[in-house]
Amino acid sequence: MNITIIGSGYVGLVSGTCFAEMGNRVTCVDIDPVKIEKLNKGVIPIFEPGLETMVLKNVKKNNLFFTTVLPKALKDSEIVFIAVGTPMGADGSADLQYVLAVAKSIGQSMQKRLVVVDKSTVPIGTADKVETTIQKELDIRNSDLQFDVVSNPEFLKEGAAIADFMKPDRVVIGTDSDFATDKMKQLYHPFCMSRDRFISMDIRSAEMTKYAANAMLATKISFMNEIANICEKVGADANQVRIGIGSDQRIGYSFIYPGAGYGGSCFPKDVKALTKIAKEYGCDSKLIIAVEEVNDAQKLVIAQKIVTRFGEDLTGFTFGIWGLSFKPGTDDMREAPSIYVIKELVSRGAKIKVYDPKAIDEAKEHYLKGVLNITYADSKYDVLKDSDALVLLTEWKEFRSPDFEELQNQLKSPIIFDGRNQYNTFKLEEKGFEYYQIGKK
Ligand SMILES: NC(=O)c1ccc[n+]([C@@H]2O[C@H](COP(=O)([O-])OP(=O)(O)OC[C@H]3O[C@@H](n4cnc5c(N)ncnc54)[C@H](O)[C@@H]3O)[C@@H](O)[C@H]2O)c1
Repeated sequence: MNITIIGSGYVGLVSGTCFAEMGNRVTCVDIDPVKIEKLNKGVIPIFEPGLETMVLKNVKKNNLFFTTVLPKALKDSEIVFIAVGTPMGADGSADLQYVLAVAKSIGQSMQKRLVVVDKSTVPIGTADKVETTIQKELDIRNSDLQFDVVSNPEFLKEGAAIADFMKPDRVVIGTDSDFATDKMKQLYHPFCMSRDRFISMDIRSAEMTKYAANAMLATKISFMNEIANICEKVGADANQVRIGIGSDQRIGYSFIYPGAGYGGSCFPKDVKALTKIAKEYGCDSKLIIAVEEVNDAQKLVIAQKIVTRFGEDLTGFTFGIWGLSFKPGTDDMREAPSIYVIKELVSRGAKIKVYDPKAIDEAKEHYLKGVLNITYADSKYDVLKDSDALVLLTEWKEFRSPDFEELQNQLKSPIIFDGRNQYNTFKLEEKGFEYYQIGKK
């Protein structure tokens, strides 16, 4: 099939590449000329395991193309995906300007019947807006071209995006068009060979499914973080409680790790957007509002532990930090807890030395740009020398089992603040460390 993907970020680039991998002819479009130039030179603008190899392979096979010119891409396409960002607007709701700008461009450029698929995470009712916007442009052109609008929310996880896309748990398709359903079934068939993963529903339910899924996962995280904070006060160990409750199949082990709060490009903005959607429709989403409030507070729990240990004024103290990205396997720092912790410590006069395997450029160029008193290190052990404590904020594999002797020798004092509860089985206290974790005194 000939496919166009509009928006070549995490979702667009991964989806386009995986569709190309299955033998489709895919053109990825983006308005960012620098991004497209890089992609055309074989430079992948994001870090995602396995992506580079797959992109280069499919470009070589003439299955995958990159351009800024939409009409050229649409000329032979039968399906076009909208995969642009839907960032948080000023009032917290999803900003639809990019999605609707793309819909307008599609209406202006399409030359044959198209299935228009919304893969961006969008508020309920957006498909109607996309349809109206495209139709308006076709009316201006006096064109009677047909098109169908489909909602196909994306559930990939950054860091495991290729695997998630190639073997999805489910493919949710919202549409009332049999023509579009057939096209989508053909497109996704190669990804669902072992069992049927295709779930068809109406458009609004598909749009809502994405928000409900993210809100549920965020709720699990905030629930466990709240339990962890209670554990700490009552003298329980949140990690043992996690194992105790996770063993119940109805609860399960995933997404109940106490930690420094969720970040990333999806949960924070989608949880916020869902509360806005609910409010717009007169619903009082008490639970989802609380999920967000718990998370906002959780991002600063580690900083508070540091303040309790070292004092309100951190002038003269240096903290070595491991981890910047919001989770391992990605260079994405959107809403990462590290941003909040580092800014809080620096605002109290502390100096920071930080190492992350992939996200240092992101920090320097965007998320910590202009923040003073930060030194970026080339290796994890480089941050230790002259640091008063080590603070762990992202659970990269290379941090899982460090050389604790080296930590002891290099740090000014053997103190660890573990924002990811990674070291609770290492009996660090017996090794002479002062060890602080989430959900344990
Ligand atoms: N990142 C994830 O893990 C993830 C997972 C599931 C769903 N989503 C959703 O998918 C959508 C995209 O997310 P992302 O993380 O890929 O965003 P992103 O910011 O990484 O990429 C968006 C891309 O769209 C481009 N763009 C903007 N306007 C354009 C236009 N008019 N024409 C062409 N390109 C344009 C931007 O230049 C950018 O490259 C969002 O709605 C997000 O919520 C993201």
